Amino acid sequence: MDKEKLNIIAKKLVEEPKGILAADESTGTIGKRFDQINLESNIENRRKYRDLLFSTAQLEKYISGVILFDETIRQDSDQNTSFVNLLKKKKIAVGIKVDLGAKTLIGSEKEKITEGLDGLSSRIENYNELGAEFTKWRAVITIGDNIPSKKCIYLNSIYLSSYARIVQSYGLVPIVEPEVLMDGNHDINKCLDVTSEVLQVLFQELKKQDVYLGGILLKPNMVISGNECESQADPETVAELTVKCLTDNVPSEVPGIVFLSGGQSNELATEHLNLMNKFNNLPFKLSFSYGRALQHPAISSWLGKDSNIKLAQDALYKRSELNSLATLGKYNLSLEENSI
Ligand code: 13P
Repeated sequence: MDKEKLNIIAKKLVEEPKGILAADESTGTIGKRFDQINLESNIENRRKYRDLLFSTAQLEKYISGVILFDETIRQDSDQNTSFVNLLKKKKIAVGIKVDLGAKTLIGSEKEKITEGLDGLSSRIENYNELGAEFTKWRAVITIGDNIPSKKCIYLNSIYLSSYARIVQSYGLVPIVEPEVLMDGNHDINKCLDVTSEVLQVLFQELKKQDVYLGGILLKPNMVISGNECESQADPETVAELTVKCLTDNVPSEVPGIVFLSGGQSNELATEHLNLMNKFNNLPFKLSFSYGRALQHPAISSWLGKDSNIKLAQDALYKRSELNSLATLGKYNLSLEENSI
């Protein structure tokens, strides 16, 4: 394992003031996003949409890496080059989702286990040849009556760690994503307890499997109230408890934490990140790897129409810039109104 190379890639991905654009929606998930704008999810529409995202002028000012889906890493831009080359020309690192999705956990049917270890090595070899430098695997943890179970937390942690170890042996940086979903009526303290337990078990397993912690990025949920909880915690509490949870449970060798947005509004996802970056002496960089919270304004401006491409790109650029400011603790809500 080339530790030095892994550490360099991981650090570069979280170099201030940049973060990651997650554009690795599976065919099913992008289909749901297209349904919202009444657009058919066919291969050409998906390609056109990704093309407009990646072609956004100056995106590289705020975005260090983009996570792609298997279909997308093999596609071409309208600019006579592949998406991979388009991104590389902008010095944006290419990432790839390598898990095969969260499936029902047999024996605990309300829970999920992420699959994809079978054949992973050969898929990584192929992605390496195609130019990927980093990868992502997402595990899903659900809060509900008597769940998450220990089995769900342990099995997902074992799979995440096995994935990370295999990916590192090929010289690619694994993003390790244990997502505690915000679905439910639980309060923020429940989310804190579950997220803390998940991170403890995960880091035990990562160490057991000799994963090099200086060569991963962690992609966690923030510690927030369930989306159906009646008393929603305020942004200051979210920032404080999330920072506490991470500093208590994540070893300081990990170079960076890149949050998922998980269904938070665009503005809240940015505000939370900003407040966290106001804390001093954090042991790791705190940045973003947002999907919805970066793309939502872009897709709803685009609506599948060529005439709206510039509008959609401006929307992506703006959210990228605001989240970039949040990595520095320099965002404020008044910037939402001004077109910058
Ligand atoms: P969201 O920011 O939309 O949660 O997506 C991030 C992601 O990559 C989930 O795996």
